[in-house]
Amino acid sequence: MHPETYVHGYSLREGQRLNDQAETLEQLIHHDSIFAPNMVVLEAGCGVGAQSGIISRINPQTQFISVDISEKSIHQARKLGLKNVDFKCADIFNLPFEDNLFDAVIVCFVLEHLSSPLSALKELIRVLKPGGQIMVIEGDHGSAYFYPDSEFAKQAINCQVKLQKKNGGNSNIGREIYPLLHKSGFSDIHVSPRMVYVDSSKPFFVEGFTKNTFTAMIEGVKEQAIYEGLMSENEFNKGISDLYRTAGEDGVFCYTFFKGKGVKK
Ligand SMILES: C[S@@+](CC[C@H](N)C(=O)[O-])C[C@H]1O[C@@H](n2cnc3c(N)ncnc32)[C@H](O)[C@@H]1O
Repeated sequence: MHPETYVHGYSLREGQRLNDQAETLEQLIHHDSIFAPNMVVLEAGCGVGAQSGIISRINPQTQFISVDISEKSIHQARKLGLKNVDFKCADIFNLPFEDNLFDAVIVCFVLEHLSSPLSALKELIRVLKPGGQIMVIEGDHGSAYFYPDSEFAKQAINCQVKLQKKNGGNSNIGREIYPLLHKSGFSDIHVSPRMVYVDSSKPFFVEGFTKNTFTAMIEGVKEQAIYEGLMSENEFNKGISDLYRTAGEDGVFCYTFFKGKGVKK
């Protein structure tokens, strides 16, 4: 995939959204992203380093090589100054690493953007040592439901699904992690759903997830959605204000991420 076709783009606001997302979901997603000291771990599709900051902090003795196709994102990630992370520009489909090199691999919110996630996983299994583990974390927009319900909000979410599909990706990939890991040759596969349930008794999640992660992501495709004629500007704006409405006093928002683990035989 050429970075220009990446649906979320590489704006400063998107970089901030990735950081908000990573910070808000740290416990839910990474409480079990634990690697043994002295392991060398590949993080594929690290972006601006939002997840790298977390996994390197909770695994201070582990060495991470974190790669992304976007030079701009890698440049920004390096500014984090993470001592146990080496950031490199590389394509997940053609990694500049020898076979059987890494003790483990972690991939977070990347497969959903790829036209062939299976080819990416085959490349990742190539560079993983026999006995090494992969961790894959993805969302699934089909798992989004909320109160108050809104057809406009659902249509706005569907704009993101359609635009991502047009770019070759799949916003509903979470449900496919098991079959993808299976097809790419991993064994001992376990997938665990990680549900985010948000109501106003959880202000941290209202801000960090409902507003700054999910709604901000859908808002980010506004121009493309209108340009492609998927919704009118008024309809899209109504969808976004209805999503923000779910962050109100009596609002509820639910979404499920999926974390898959598998081992190379
Ligand atoms: C949604 S971002 C996730 C970034 C990071 N993992 C996080 O969770 O904050 C997806 C990332 O995948 C990267 N990406 C897309 N195609 C890629 C490829 N072929 N090789 C490497 N990275 C790729 C994009 O540049 C982008 O930084």
